[in-house]
Amino acid sequence: MIRARILGVGRYLPERRVTNFDLAKVFETSDEWIQQRTGIVERRYADEGVYCSDLALEASREALKNAGMKAEDIDFIILATLSPDHHFPGTGVYLQRKLGITDIGCMDIRNQCTGFLYSLAVADAFIRIGMYKRILVVGAEVHSSALNYTKEGRDVAVLFGDGAGAVIVGPSEDPSRGILSTHLHADGKYADILRLEIWDISKKPYITHKMLDEGRQYPKMVGREVFRVAVTKIPEVIQEALQANNLKIEDIDFFLPHQANLRINQYAAQQLGVPQEKFRNNIQRYGNTTAASLPLLLSELLEEGALREGNLILMVAFGSGFTWGASVIRW
Ligand code: ACO
Repeated sequence: MIRARILGVGRYLPERRVTNFDLAKVFETSDEWIQQRTGIVERRYADEGVYCSDLALEASREALKNAGMKAEDIDFIILATLSPDHHFPGTGVYLQRKLGITDIGCMDIRNQCTGFLYSLAVADAFIRIGMYKRILVVGAEVHSSALNYTKEGRDVAVLFGDGAGAVIVGPSEDPSRGILSTHLHADGKYADILRLEIWDISKKPYITHKMLDEGRQYPKMVGREVFRVAVTKIPEVIQEALQANNLKIEDIDFFLPHQANLRINQYAAQQLGVPQEKFRNNIQRYGNTTAASLPLLLSELLEEGALREGNLILMVAFGSGFTWGASVIRW
């Protein structure tokens, strides 16, 4: 059986650091409140004029370099984001254009914080059936343009940051290495708990001045409900992924959880009995980068030199939709 494996990883973070103290100058909040509730110390913001596809491009270039490949070697692009350059066309085609390539297929995946795992699952399936040989999978976000920097939007505004992560997925020569399984879920009954309402295609016109005056162009979240469901679903899907591969918690070398809130991850790790140092976090430095968080963590883990051939990684994510999932990879 052909298995798919990650051949190269890259990341890109805008240079501009925005601390909790910086945000406290803009609206009523404090470093203490943010750190206590979320663990976040600072996040990165892209400058005016920077698109999601620009961040994706930088991360993709690094992933290609680390895989020893050129853009021309890629035969398909999957891009996950909730902050696309424009509503359409998909951001994948802008990335393709910026990479200086043409003709190959491009697909956008709109599954928020679980977007990277959904994308990885699609890439895995394409590789396994032999449809493509070198797939670029990218998670990229420019959240900073679409946050409400007032007291009303502060619960959401403090959480998010910009960034991108990319991987190249291709066939593994060694059938024991690569993506062992991916488990994807969603429950639409929670669709309104965390969403950005505009546009509203049922309305004619679908965007009005009134909607904008009401601030409906900004994400809205029932934070406690996100927290409550996340701490249930994350351990559940981790157990599902372990069982599917006949593995135990102790067999996993590194858990890479989506970075929504440090407290969610600490709580999940504790529930599962996973030592905190195995449950990796970088939200302190980047905030929640949605589709980019998992490849960002993976890229940093590799750079540290902590990840060895044969190690087992479990990636897990939970986000708006709600959507959630997990993937087990033998490195
Ligand atoms: N600074 C200061 N005070 C604030 C802030 C802020 N940034 N935000 C909210 N508050 C205030 C509220 O106004 C409220 O004040 P009140 O009691 O006077 O009314 C008080 O703090 C408590 O508000 P809650 O919303 O109840 O705070 P909570 O303890 O639930 O913490 C938080 C909020 C951190 C958002 C938490 O609910 C959470 O982390 N939930 C999970 C969110 C998450 O992970 N979202 C990302 C999902 S992933 C994705 O797919 C995008």
